This record gives sequence, C-alpha cells and structure tokens, in this order.
Amino acid sequence: MSKPLSETQQAAQTTQPAIAQALEQAQARFDAIVRNMPGLVYQFERRADGSVAFPYLSDGCQALLGVAAAELHAQPERFFQLILEDDRKSYLDAMQASAASLWSWNWEGRIWVDAWKDVKWINLRCTPHLLPGAGTVRWEGIMTNITESKLEQLEVRQSRARLAELTAHIENVKEQERTRIAREIHDDLGGNLTAIKMALAMLSRRLPQEDAALQEKAAYVDSLVDRTIDAVHRISLDLRPSILDFGLVAALEWQAKEFGTQAGIEVRFDSGPGEIELDPDRASALFRIVQEALNNIAKHARASKVALHLSRTRQYILLKIRDNGRGIAPADRAKPQSFGLRGMAERARALGGTLTLGQAPGGGTVVAIKIKSENTPPNRHHAHESAAAPSPAAPGGATIVR
Ligand SMILES: Nc1ncnc2c1ncn2[C@@H]1O[C@H](COP(=O)(O)OP(=O)(O)OP(=O)(O)O)[C@@H](O)[C@H]1O
Ligand SMILES: [Mg+2]
Repeated sequence: MSKPLSETQQAAQTTQPAIAQALEQAQARFDAIVRNMPGLVYQFERRADGSVAFPYLSDGCQALLGVAAAELHAQPERFFQLILEDDRKSYLDAMQASAASLWSWNWEGRIWVDAWKDVKWINLRCTPHLLPGAGTVRWEGIMTNITESKLEQLEVRQSRARLAELTAHIENVKEQERTRIAREIHDDLGGNLTAIKMALAMLSRRLPQEDAALQEKAAYVDSLVDRTIDAVHRISLDLRPSILDFGLVAALEWQAKEFGTQAGIEVRFDSGPGEIELDPDRASALFRIVQEALNNIAKHARASKVALHLSRTRQYILLKIRDNGRGIAPADRAKPQSFGLRGMAERARALGGTLTLGQAPGGGTVVAIKIKSENTPPNRHHAHESAAAPSPAAPGGATIVR
C-alpha cells in the first residue's frame, strides 16, 4: 500500500509543470533577445591556472569572428590567436586590470578574420565577477563589430592632421612672404624715397626765391614724400615688425606700447628677466597670436586694462593676455564666420601647445597659450582630435580651443 503524499510533496507535484513552463518561457525570451543583439553575446572565464573558457557563446560568433561557436567553445584559446599581434598586449592588460579590480572590461582592437582574409575592429564590453572557490573570474558581455565607425574615425583624424599640417604650412609661407615684402618695401621704396627727398632739397635750393608758387609746390612735394616715407614705414611694420629680429620680449614690449597708444587702453607687459630664446618661426607665431588677441580686445572686449604676461619654466613657455572687458560668451567661440580664435588655436597647436580661454577674476577674458620650451613637433594628439568648436575641458573652468 502506497504511503499518502505529504503536503510539500503534493505542492511540488502541482508546481513542477509551472516551473518548467516558466523556465521554457524565460529561455525563449533570452534566445529572442540574443538573436536580435548585434554581435556576439558570451561568457568568458579565466581560471587560476591561466586557462580560459567560453562557457556560453551565442550564434553571432560565426558572423563576427568567422569561427563557429562550437569550435571556439572547444578551443577557447583560438580567440587570443585571432587578435592581431600589435593589439594582444592591450587585450591582456585590459583583462588583467578588469580581473584585479572587478571593474568592467572594455576593449577595442583588431582581429584577423581568416574566412574573409580581412582585419576587423571589434569592441568587447563585459562585466566580471569572481566565482566561488578557486580564483576563477567570469565575464559576461557582448562583442560587436566597430570596423566601419573605427575606419571613419581614423579617416577623420587623418584628414584633421593633414588639415593642421596644411594650415601650419600656409601660415609659415604667409609669414615668409610678409617678411620678404616688408623688407622690399622698406629697403627699395624707403631707399628711393630718401633719395627723392635729397634730390628735391637740392632742386628747391636752386629755385628762384621770388617764384612763390614754385617754392610752395616744392614744399608740398617734400611733405608728400615725408608722408609717403611714414606710410612705407607703417606698412612694413604692419607686415612684419622688424623688432622681432631683436627677440620676442622686445617685440611684445613694443606691441604692447603701440596697442596702448592706438586703442587708448592701459596695457601692462611683464616677462621674466632676460630674453626668451625662441627660433624666429616660433617667435613670429606667438607674436601673431598676441596681435590677434589684442585685435579682439580692441574690437569686442570694451576693456580699459590689458595685462600681458610672458614666462618660461623649464618645460614650457606661457603667455597670458588678460583683459577686464565684458568676457567671451560660450556662443561667441563657435561663430561660423569668425576665424581669429581658431587661427590662434591652430598656431598654438602647430607649436605643439594649447590655447585656452578662461574668465578673468572679476569678468573679462584670459587667453592662455602654453607651448613646450624646446622645439618639438606639433602635438599630434590634439591635431587629431581637433574640430572647429571649442571643447569644454581644461583646468580652472577654462576651455581649450580646438
Ligand atoms: N577679448 C574678448 N572679449 C570679449 N569677446 C571676445 C574677445 N575675444 C573674442 N571675443 C568674441 O569671440 C568672437 C570670436 O572671435 P574671433 O577672433 O574668432 O572672431 P572675430 O574677431 O569676430 O572675427 P575675425 O575672424 O576677424 O577674427 C568675437 O566675435 C567676439 O564676440
Ligand atoms: Mg578676431
């Protein structure tokens, strides 16, 4: 005679089909979600002895890696072999860091897909947890194909770098051209005008004293020659101040004084003791940046005071132009038809440095340029990432202009 079922056994018998049904539904839901995920959903394990395993691999394995899930399941070390040699170290480092900190593992790298004889960029993102027992870490996550966006990103970077090189080249050529024209105007025209003035003086001494009209004409031509000499001087100074030949400190001192007189703004200039040695191209570039910053102050700032500060540390040359004007609004920095700030930033970048815009204490604007002391090649990183709009990240609330 069979024993009557206990209450618990009876309950188990009635709930078992319900549990099985719920499990089936959960499995179906999981399968549907995984089928619709881009890429490969997987579990990965690294054991204490260094061996690895893929306890779960979705069917996306074949499409993403060119290897069937069952194959990779049987030979999990094949995944590492797919990774290009140059990218293997960063893969292992990222795995190690994630295992040690139990923080998510996010890695981008290239694999060789033999089935298509091609390189593919993949991104893996997974979260680790420690399995109970013998030091096994298990990650769960997805791998996706990012080849297209990665190639586009590389192309954007390359064309940005080419554009930066072209801009630097154009600026250099422009600077050389200005120097040449300034010298020619100064030497040729200036020399000829001085000769004309001397000849004119000699001729007017021989004019009959009683012919007032002729005397007056000669005086007029003489004053015309004087004005033309002044104009030649001014134009050649505008094109390239010859004082730059005496170094950046002297040139900035002169520029500060000139600007103060022309704009009627009090300008203070200070630099450390002695000259700051810089090759002429770098000195000209810094000088042009200051000129544009001062132009902007005259045009937009409504400032009454400007402070210009040049200093040098062992590694850097720092230049700050501070005004007490109305300040730059964020929208001003991205004006489509404004090229001054962009040109300044581009010049700074071509010198391997950065240009930041900040707010001066009590209002106004601070333009700060920081370049390496020695002549280093342009800062590739920035050149790559640059875009016309300013980026919002620099210490002290300032923004680096890109
Ligand atoms: N020192 C400043 N104080 C206040 N606003 C400024 C200052 N410098 C620049 N700006 C603002 O930033 C904008 C962009 O300056 P930017 O030098 O790029 O262009 P711009 O001076 O308008 O034209 P340009 O291409 O002739 O230089 C200016 O139009 C102005 O509104
Ligand atoms: Mg401007």
